[in-house]
Amino acid sequence: MPEATFHFPPDFKWGVAVAAHQVEGNNDGNDWWDWEQQEGSIKGGRRSGLACNWWQDAEADFDRAAALGVDSLRLSVEWSRVEPRAGAFDEVALERYVEMVRGLRGRGIEPMITLHHFTIPRWLSEQGGWESRETVRLFVRYVARVVQALSPYCDLWCTINEPNVYAYQGYLAAIWPPGESSFGSAMTVIRNLLLGHAGAYRVIHELQPGARVGLAHAMLVFDPPRDGSLLDRVATRLIDRAYNRTILATLRRGIWAPPLGFGLALKVRETLDWIGLNYYTRQRVAFDRTRSEDLYTRRFHEDDAELLDGGYGEFYPEGMLRCLERLVGFDLPIYITENGIPDDDDDQRPRHILTHLHILWKGIQRSYPVMGYYHWTLVDNFEWAEGWTLRFGLIAVDPETQERRPRRSAEVYGNLIRANAIGPRLVDEYAPELRPKLYPG
Ligand code: FCB
Repeated sequence: MPEATFHFPPDFKWGVAVAAHQVEGNNDGNDWWDWEQQEGSIKGGRRSGLACNWWQDAEADFDRAAALGVDSLRLSVEWSRVEPRAGAFDEVALERYVEMVRGLRGRGIEPMITLHHFTIPRWLSEQGGWESRETVRLFVRYVARVVQALSPYCDLWCTINEPNVYAYQGYLAAIWPPGESSFGSAMTVIRNLLLGHAGAYRVIHELQPGARVGLAHAMLVFDPPRDGSLLDRVATRLIDRAYNRTILATLRRGIWAPPLGFGLALKVRETLDWIGLNYYTRQRVAFDRTRSEDLYTRRFHEDDAELLDGGYGEFYPEGMLRCLERLVGFDLPIYITENGIPDDDDDQRPRHILTHLHILWKGIQRSYPVMGYYHWTLVDNFEWAEGWTLRFGLIAVDPETQERRPRRSAEVYGNLIRANAIGPRLVDEYAPELRPKLYPG
C-alpha cells in the first residue's frame, strides 16, 4: 500500500503573519518606541530601530513570500502612522498602506489586515490608552478611515490581536507598556478592547457589507502537573477560564463572563464572522498562594518536555488540536492566525511545521472548519520585550545589515504549500525522526 499523503483542501489559505511595529522600522510615534528607550525594558538592551525596513521596502519580502507560494499575508496597520495626532489623519501614510496591499494583490497574495497589534499612538497613551472608555470611540474612528482607504483591496479584517496577552503583559505582568500591575485595570482594558472590537465590526460592515471580520485570540494549553493536587487542578481551571475562555464566551453570549465583569454586554454579541487562533505552547500550572499577581499560579514545564529557545515554552503540537476542539462549538470559520517557534538554528522548526500541520490536517478530517494557516513569521523581527533574542522567521534577518538568509524551514513550508499536502518524501527529507509517528507500522 502506498504511504499516505495528507492533502489539504484545494482552497486552503497558506499564509505568513507579521505586525507593523515588529517589521516596519522607525515607528517612533507610538508607546512601544518610548518603552524601548527605557533601560532594562528590552532584553539585550536592543530596540526596534529599522526593524525589517518594511516601511521603505516591504516589497522585497513580499517577493520572498510569493516565492514560497504563500497566498495570504497577515499584516497590521500602525495607528500612530495613520493618525499621528488626534483626529489628524496622514494621507501619505495611508497611501503607503494602499501601495503595500496592492503590491500583495499584484503578487497573488490576499491581505488579512489587523487593525490593532499591541501598539497605540503616543498621544493616546498619554490620555490613558485602553484604560479609558473614550479610546473605544477613537479606535472606531481610526478603523473607519483605514477601511475607507483599503477596502478596495481587502475584505478580510482582524480587528484586534490578542486582547488577553495585551492586558496581561501590559497591565498585570508589567513587562510591556504601560508597565502596570493591577488586576482591575487589566479587566477594564479587556472590556474596552472588546467594545472597540464590536464597534470596529459594525463600522467595517457598514462601509463594506461583504467584509469578513474576526479577532485573533491567543490560547495557551494549561495542564496541572502530572502528579498535581486538587488545588493545582482548581488553579489550572481558573487560569484557563480567565485566559482562554472569558473573551470568546462574552462575545458569544453578550454577557460579561467573570472575571471580566457581570451583566449584559449586548453590544459585543455576535460580532465575529470568524475566529483567529494564535497557538504557541502549553504550560503546567501549580497553585502558589504567594503569587497573587499571577492568579495564584506558578507556571512551569515537566522535566521531560521538549523546550523551545529562550524559555519560550514547550514543543506541544497536540495543543493546537485541543484548542481547536474548543472553538468548533462557535460554528464559525477558523483561521490559525499565528503559530510558530523561536528557533535561531532551525533545529526544531522543520519538524514543528510538519507536526503542527499534520495535527491541523487531523482537525480538518474531523470537519473542523479551518480555512487557513498563517505561520508566525516570514522574517525574524523585533520580538517585543525579547528584542532580537528570539528568532521566529522562516527567513533569518540581520537587523544591522538587513541581510536575509532563508532557513531550511522556508524550504519545508514552500514545498508543503506547493504540494498542498504533507507526503512521505517531505517527512524523510526534513524530519525523518517523525516517520514512525506519521507512518506507523
Ligand atoms: C504573539 C504576538 C506576535 C509575536 C508572537 C511570537 O503573541 O501576537 O506579535 O510576538 O507572539
